Amino acid sequence: MGTQARFLFCWLCLQVIFATVFSEDWEVEVVPKIDALVSSCVVLPCTFKYPGEQLPYSRLRGIWHKKEMHDIIYHEDKTLIVDSFKGRTKLLGDLGQKNCTLEIDKVKDHDNGPFCFRAEIPNYNKFSFVKNCVSLSMKLKPATPTLEQREVLEDGVPTTFKCFIRHTCPSHPPTITWSRGHKDAIMKNRDIGHATWEMESLLTFTPTEDDDHTYLNCTASFHGSESSTGHIRLYVKRKANILHVIIPVVAVLGTAILFGGVCFFMTKKYKQQIQELQSRDSNGMLSRLSRMSHRIRSVDWNFP
Ligand SMILES: *[C@@H]1O[C@H](CO)[C@@H](O)[C@H](O)[C@H]1NC(C)=O
Repeated sequence: MGTQARFLFCWLCLQVIFATVFSEDWEVEVVPKIDALVSSCVVLPCTFKYPGEQLPYSRLRGIWHKKEMHDIIYHEDKTLIVDSFKGRTKLLGDLGQKNCTLEIDKVKDHDNGPFCFRAEIPNYNKFSFVKNCVSLSMKLKPATPTLEQREVLEDGVPTTFKCFIRHTCPSHPPTITWSRGHKDAIMKNRDIGHATWEMESLLTFTPTEDDDHTYLNCTASFHGSESSTGHIRLYVKRKANILHVIIPVVAVLGTAILFGGVCFFMTKKYKQQIQELQSRDSNGMLSRLSRMSHRIRSVDWNFP
């Protein structure tokens, strides 16, 4: 490789490095449509990229606005926020980490949006991502939680029940309570993507015969004022008691023994009778024969 070629190669390498580090374009990643429960909160996940070197939080400014740029719903200078959103918006994301996640609290039924993010590098550069805004789909009532259980419950056998509900307010997730024994329940909140979260509660309790045909409820209480309840009916199978095994076994064995005994005695009795008959039969023959010979002899004797 000649000196010139080597120089060209190094220059190309530097170009590639600079292109990846410094020439990133303005970009934003949001979920375009999110369900929002009125009176609760909704979190709008957001990450962004800007050209040039990475800047600290202090050098960046994040703004959220409606389609009209002057309808500001979030700004670090609260006096610039429109009245209807004052005190209800919070930037959860760290701008220094290129995270522009927004929380809207006390959601109202006209908070549909669309809402767009705007990044500013004061005295240098700014960009409104008006092509990637977020619309909210308003829900006046929450969905009912789903309850899952094993098909058949057994008396005295501990069983785990699962109750879960989807939501879009991970900063104040709903709580789940049960109609019985909920102090031992385990709650888990997990991100299932597309700005949606799932709160689940696992409850383990031991049903008894008394619980048969009763209802088990689980209630999801959302941040704000809404709640919803789901239920299932319990069907409890009676305990597989040792008596339930012994009684049929004894019954079957008893019948078998009785039947066997009867058969044994019957055959014994019949055998005896047959023997008796046989012996009587041969006796009869003999007596008849002796009688005959007697008669013959007596005939002889009658001859003079
Ligand atoms: C952005 O910030 C939110 C709120 O702190 C956090 O839940 C989320 O995981 C962050 N997103 C990324 C991609 O780091």
